[in-house]
Amino acid sequence: MSDWIEVCGLDDLIADSGICVLAGGRQVALFYLSKIDQVYAVDNFDPIGKANVLARGMVGDIGGEPMLASPLYKQHFSLTSGRCFEDADIHIHTYPVRISQQRVAVQICPESSL
Ligand code: FES
Repeated sequence: MSDWIEVCGLDDLIADSGICVLAGGRQVALFYLSKIDQVYAVDNFDPIGKANVLARGMVGDIGGEPMLASPLYKQHFSLTSGRCFEDADIHIHTYPVRISQQRVAVQICPESSL
């Protein structure tokens, strides 16, 4: 079972930048990529820098794949799969995003609390 948790309004998102929200006790970083009009949600925790900072990372794309650059050591993470472009052994959790009536919800699955 996984739960959809409403976290903010569409208006709270900042184009091509991140915000951090709390969802089910987890810090989730939300990004709105204006060029492709998509919202992505990933863990705010940087597994390499070991700090909750990813919402402050820069977004863009690598070879057409939406990505986020950590503000700490500049590793790049896919916003769709969570994989780290520089280290195949490392990934961040990604969360499905749903937008309904101008409200943004993320889906938290049980494994994500590990
Ligand atoms: S969100 Fe990563 S395992 Fe479920």
